[in-house]
Amino acid sequence: MKKIHSIDELRRVTAEWREAGDTIALVPTMGNLHKGHMGLVSLAANYAEHVIVSIFVNPMQFGPKEDYASYPRTLEVDSRKLARVGVDILFAPTVDEMYPRGIENTTQVFVPELSEQLCGESRPGHFMGVTSVVCRLLNICQPDVAVFGNKDYQQLVILRRMVEELHMPVKLLAGETERDANGLALSSRNSKLDADQQITAASIQQVLQDVAKALREGGSAYADLEQAATKQIAAAGLQPEYVAIRSATDLGAPQKNTRRLAVLAAAHLGEVRLIDNVAVELDR
Ligand code: PAJ
Repeated sequence: MKKIHSIDELRRVTAEWREAGDTIALVPTMGNLHKGHMGLVSLAANYAEHVIVSIFVNPMQFGPKEDYASYPRTLEVDSRKLARVGVDILFAPTVDEMYPRGIENTTQVFVPELSEQLCGESRPGHFMGVTSVVCRLLNICQPDVAVFGNKDYQQLVILRRMVEELHMPVKLLAGETERDANGLALSSRNSKLDADQQITAASIQQVLQDVAKALREGGSAYADLEQAATKQIAAAGLQPEYVAIRSATDLGAPQKNTRRLAVLAAAHLGEVRLIDNVAVELDR
């Protein structure tokens, strides 16, 4: 596996691959890799001859009071994990390489509306930071496919919209959410929770599964279901931010004939903000 820090060098290697007619998959990450990330890497390997994994803790997507400084950075361990599964390139650019003029006045990519609701309400500017960096990573690596997790469902929907509206020649694939034995979605930030808190945190998924069951059984009083679920999350010992039942394709309010729903939630526990979601397919 090649460890590459510069855009020029990355371009030299990928140009050779493309000349040979080979396909390329990109898995963007912020590192501190866990089984969820590694699942995306194996999905990527099924779809292309070469796999690039990027590790870049993107300052542009962190709010001023968020954990940019303390975000876990474990490049050496991550690098060994990726080499073991046959990744071709670990692309780990510096902040200067990605934003040579700084992040304040650089070109921004923004998907309005979708970026301003749900998690976007409590994290203004977050999704603008995500789309701005993913747009750059896609332009730098020019992959045939790029892989993202269903875990960050709103992020996935926003990135699909960006790729569609900017006519970017890449196919986005979604990987399933990896969980611990209690059902808690794996996340780099879970390391900031102790063992008891990790068990408490898993109740988010249980509550979402209950909502999914109610929807499959014909429940359609969405606001009531959202409210009851929010109360359950609070009763479990978390501070809920939202529970929302939305159309899975555009995160809009579900219509009578909407078949694919997403139930999304965000909650705080200790210093950690947790998100999770479940998909619900109705046969109406
Ligand atoms: P990061 O949080 O490192 O996540 C990288 C990718 O892994 C994302 O697509 C995310 O949805 C996926 N992922 C996270 N936890 C997962 C789990 N438990 N199971 C499966 N997949 C999981 O998301 C980001 O980084 C950044 O916003 C990024 C897209 C890299 C832009 O900076």
